[in-house]
Amino acid sequence: MHVLFVTSEAFPLIKTGGLADVSGALPKAIKSAASFNGDIKVLLPAYRGVLSKLTAVKEVASIEALKQSCTLFSGYLPDSDVEVIAIKNDVLYDRAGGPYTDESGADWNDNALRFGVLSRVASLLSKQDSPLNWQPDIVHCNDWQTGLTPAYMKLVDQVTVKSIFSIHNMAYQGNFDGNVLSQLELPAQHFNMNGFEFYQQLSFMKAGLFYADQLSTVSPTYAKEIQTVHYGFGLQGLLKTRAEQLTGILNGIDTQDWNPATDSHLIKPYSDKNITGKKAVKKALQQQLGLSINPDAPLLGVVSRFAYQKGLDLLPSIIPQLVADGCQLAILGSGEKALEDGFVALQKQFPNNISITVGYNEPMSHNIMAGADLFIMPSRFEPCGLNQLYGLAYGTPPIVSATGGLADSVRDTTPETIKNNTATGFVLKNVTDASLLGTIQSAVKLWQDKQVWRKIQKNGMQTDVSWSSSANLYLDLYEKTLDLHKKTLSQ
Ligand code: ADP
Ligand code: GLC
Repeated sequence: MHVLFVTSEAFPLIKTGGLADVSGALPKAIKSAASFNGDIKVLLPAYRGVLSKLTAVKEVASIEALKQSCTLFSGYLPDSDVEVIAIKNDVLYDRAGGPYTDESGADWNDNALRFGVLSRVASLLSKQDSPLNWQPDIVHCNDWQTGLTPAYMKLVDQVTVKSIFSIHNMAYQGNFDGNVLSQLELPAQHFNMNGFEFYQQLSFMKAGLFYADQLSTVSPTYAKEIQTVHYGFGLQGLLKTRAEQLTGILNGIDTQDWNPATDSHLIKPYSDKNITGKKAVKKALQQQLGLSINPDAPLLGVVSRFAYQKGLDLLPSIIPQLVADGCQLAILGSGEKALEDGFVALQKQFPNNISITVGYNEPMSHNIMAGADLFIMPSRFEPCGLNQLYGLAYGTPPIVSATGGLADSVRDTTPETIKNNTATGFVLKNVTDASLLGTIQSAVKLWQDKQVWRKIQKNGMQTDVSWSSSANLYLDLYEKTLDLHKKTLSQ
């Protein structure tokens, strides 16, 4: 089985969020799964700095897509045998700033072309005359940036190779003015309801949902939620009609990168058997962030994009009460300016208790995950979420809302779940500031009971959040997709 895994980010090459974590880890897990007999290659743009992070890089082919001349480079993910094909076109991809936005946070105005080229190259590589001399059986696309691939495969290249489109977030759809259609070489007759048109715009996401042979998303609960008005962002009707081809598979974590026993970012390693190192990490974190060094102050951690999705706007109004209760808060993230400014103002007001670091900082994210006593994630919607999984693995019970992958991965603490050793975190009744405050307060109360707390930590640390079982579910999905393929051929 040959799989081409198409993505717009992959850790540690380029990362803005959880998609990178998944794209860096899932192909590795698939490749090492005992039942996988095949090959998987990751395809992504060679943004600035990407090629230098690959090992054994070499130029392998040239290809023209949407009139853009591209060079394909092959290399390997660091410390891995997973091959990456990087599309080099410096005009499109060699820029300062992020993969989707410039340094000020504004979307690149040629994103339709930049990700149209990614999608087009993926489709060209699925053809028999692929310049790679390697043809996939399955093209596995991820999020809107790759959404046009299934459309190109079906409508333009007319290949029989099968495609899977994985939804990581319905809120980002890649909708562009219809006048980009000709530049993207898309057949205009499909610019309608039964095609890639969405409210008079070209929608990359809709194209993926409409033309892929199979669909998946990153948790079973989110697979159900996105078929409803509240979570479907206008595409719930289409998702409902494709419900039989839609599977929810919970993300896992890369246990090479996220393991408190081997994490090189931490001053001291620790594990569920010997958790004392966690105290040293907390102390070092308090010191680094300028918080008062106090092992008895409950330290709450946040590492996140600041977006409506994440529900962090509930925090500022309850911070004065949390401070009065003796809590500390270590926040790392960036995004909505008003929220960044709000946290900065609160840090000025309560410097011993509140710390905000605006920006992206990989080592600090590990140290907050390890040094905090509780991890806060009150998302309004959350397709899967990785941070709550890191929280479980790091003995930092997460406080989450009951949505998407959060609902599927965190077991609320109740007298019963404490008794039967299944409690792993705390689940909000509602996504409101009152509910968040109340839940934090009861969690903190329980934190004082060291015996019960150790139990909850252990339950989380002993939960298998690795990719191993989910990688097998993707393999089942690949098999299912290929079976369908065989059936079509024999008809
Ligand atoms: P999303 O992809 O919606 O942002 P996830 O929880 O799936 O949410 O994944 C977010 C990933 O990005 C995690 O690995 C998290 O640690 C990381 N992350 C988010 N913000 C930052 C930041 N400011 N610095 C470092 N890592 C961050
Ligand atoms: C998206 C979602 C997040 C998920 C990640 C990886 O960014 O917001 O919930 O964990 O993709 O699948």
